[in-house]
Amino acid sequence: MIQQSKIVIKDLNLYYHEKQVVKELNLEIPQNEIFAIIGPSNSGITTTLRTLNRLCDLTFGARQEGEVLLDGKSIFNKNVNVTELRRKVGMVFDVPTPLPMSIFDNVAFGSNLNGKKSKAEVEEGVEKALRMSALWDDVKDRLNTPAARLSGGQQQRLCIARVLALEPEVILLDRPCSALDPISTAKIEDSLIQLKEQFTIIIAPHTIQQAGRIADRVAFMLMGDLIEQGITHEVFSVPKDKRTNDYLTGRFG
Ligand SMILES: Nc1ncnc2c1ncn2[C@@H]1O[C@H](COP(=O)(O)OP(=O)(O)OP(=O)(O)O)[C@@H](O)[C@H]1O
Ligand SMILES: [Mg+2]
Repeated sequence: MIQQSKIVIKDLNLYYHEKQVVKELNLEIPQNEIFAIIGPSNSGITTTLRTLNRLCDLTFGARQEGEVLLDGKSIFNKNVNVTELRRKVGMVFDVPTPLPMSIFDNVAFGSNLNGKKSKAEVEEGVEKALRMSALWDDVKDRLNTPAARLSGGQQQRLCIARVLALEPEVILLDRPCSALDPISTAKIEDSLIQLKEQFTIIIAPHTIQQAGRIADRVAFMLMGDLIEQGITHEVFSVPKDKRTNDYLTGRFG
């Protein structure tokens, strides 16, 4: 199978006001893989993820130079529908933020399932999203109870389900397991490995070990510079750059 690049990042420079936080970033993200971006704090990883669905548009002072192509087309083009872009490229944040409503409504809410489709189709979509995020068995008997009553790990899987219900093509995850216990983390990792069959996943992993467990490819960023990228087991076993080696062996970060 010839693998296609779902996203191509070309000479991307990202700034907040005058301060440059990402420098000349070039990356190709293949379709149907998990791509991890690792690095110590302040590397510009969150800023990069937020740029990929133009959430940075909402941040005062944020601006970019360079290009991001989704399926070969610029996401910065004037006539791009940003709402549609954010549906296609969904984002899950580090702290789960369920809406103050039921589990069911959280997943049905805002998705284009609502309105356009019949009640049965909405129910089917919600169940499918909850199954894909490995939450269905936990919640199938209490779909109408408040989402706030779920555990942190369940809330995080609910937020993944909410993005999946929008039928995205790319899922961005910014440290989705930072607040989770090992069992919840393992469940999310298992579901991500399943999900890459259908989606392209870009993750800022919670730890280097998590990148090693789930990512096909990894990029290492340091203070806004891309230091190294490649197939995860190759980068992890024989890093080309001394700084990558130092980071992987815990000398900093
Ligand atoms: N809204 C903002 N306004 C100004 N500067 C910002 C803003 N958001 C982030 N920054 C700065 O941009 C730089 C990169 O931040 P970013 O959050 O992208 O890094 P990160 O690699 O995700 O780090 P972390 O590990 O802490 O999540 C940091 O120096 C940060 O202070
Ligand atoms: Mg971050």
